[in-house]
Amino acid sequence: MSSAKGLEGIVATQSAISSIIDDQLTYVGYKIDDLTENASFEEVVYLLWNLKLPTEEELNAFKTDIVSNMEVPEEVIDHLRSYDISKVHPMAALRTAVSLLGLYDKEADVMEDEANKRKAVRLQAQISTIVAAFARIRKGLEPVKPKKDLGYAANFLYMLNNKEPEDIEVEAIDKALVLHADHELNASTFAARVCVATLSDLYSGVTTAISTLKGPLHGGANEQVMKMLTEIEEEENAIPYIKKKLENKELIMGMGHRVYKHGDPRAKHLKKMSQELTKLTEQPKYYNMSVAIEDYIKQEKGLPANVDFYSASVYHSLGIDHDLFTPIFAMSRVSGWIAHIMEQYDNNRLIRPRAEYVGPEMQEFIPIEERK
Ligand code: COA
Repeated sequence: MSSAKGLEGIVATQSAISSIIDDQLTYVGYKIDDLTENASFEEVVYLLWNLKLPTEEELNAFKTDIVSNMEVPEEVIDHLRSYDISKVHPMAALRTAVSLLGLYDKEADVMEDEANKRKAVRLQAQISTIVAAFARIRKGLEPVKPKKDLGYAANFLYMLNNKEPEDIEVEAIDKALVLHADHELNASTFAARVCVATLSDLYSGVTTAISTLKGPLHGGANEQVMKMLTEIEEEENAIPYIKKKLENKELIMGMGHRVYKHGDPRAKHLKKMSQELTKLTEQPKYYNMSVAIEDYIKQEKGLPANVDFYSASVYHSLGIDHDLFTPIFAMSRVSGWIAHIMEQYDNNRLIRPRAEYVGPEMQEFIPIEERK
């Protein structure tokens, strides 16, 4: 038996949800470029969950369903209030709160298809409310209830800032949500599938996925990109800073990808948004620095920018706290996790690979009193 480190190149399941073929990403066969330009996030969630695009009527009903399920049990909000806010990262708060949501959902352990669909809507809807509520609570502000006439992206910004967002802000968040919604068998999605393949429930699957997304090699990278841009501070420092990091064999966050070797098709959309928004908010330096770093890493290491790289300056331009970047990723990717969880339930088999054993063999057991 031989192993592939990091399971590189291993095809672990069949899926009809999204595909990455020749550096092209599609959701249910639709190009990510077309979806980003033309579809709303809710339309994409419907697509991922039903494997077909909705009609106008279906989309309106779906949007109403989502918005009517956005309110979170008061016990969960009270729990968020009890955290030591100076120490708790919003991803840790989100992981805990989503697990807690399961305790207040009477259908949490009901495994029938229809119950899972209802839970899917509740989870998708409530995750954004939790992110916004925690962001406010830790600033000593009261959480804001969702507004029935706003879509998912607009509602998130409204619940975050207690004011109706500008169209350009809604558009940026909506597009970012579309771009992050699903990505084949990425680490958090795989983790979710492994979890529910034991026939564990939806809340457990999504909690597992959030825990996996949190790491800096996965969803946590976008926050780290902004940390790097803030440390660099001025455009002229960018290349010397990166050179030093490379000399020290440190990773440049937002660069490189396990699957894409020539370019992440999502990055260009975020790059365009970053250019527009940093200009509008009079902080073009963040865009300029990012371009300089991208070009340099490409030339020096042959590595492309990934989805996290330009999302950092996009969210920063919208005035969003840097540690909320990964929770926003989770608000989007939960749609993909749920699609994959449902697909796993539909055709389940326990996921249980093998390990290539490399430890000592056939050791003689020595009683404890004789051990040195
Ligand atoms: N900065 C500097 N060097 C990098 C790099 C980065 N971001 N990503 C990869 N490399 C280098 C590795 O050091 C390795 O070099 P070596 O062959 O000289 O040892 C080579 O490129 C191959 O990288 P490897 O670690 O095998 O790639 P992987 O497929 O295991 O990892 C990532 C993929 C995404 C985890 C990795 O590129 C990374 O850590 N990127 C930064 C974190 C990030 O942005 N994550 C979000 C992904 S969407």
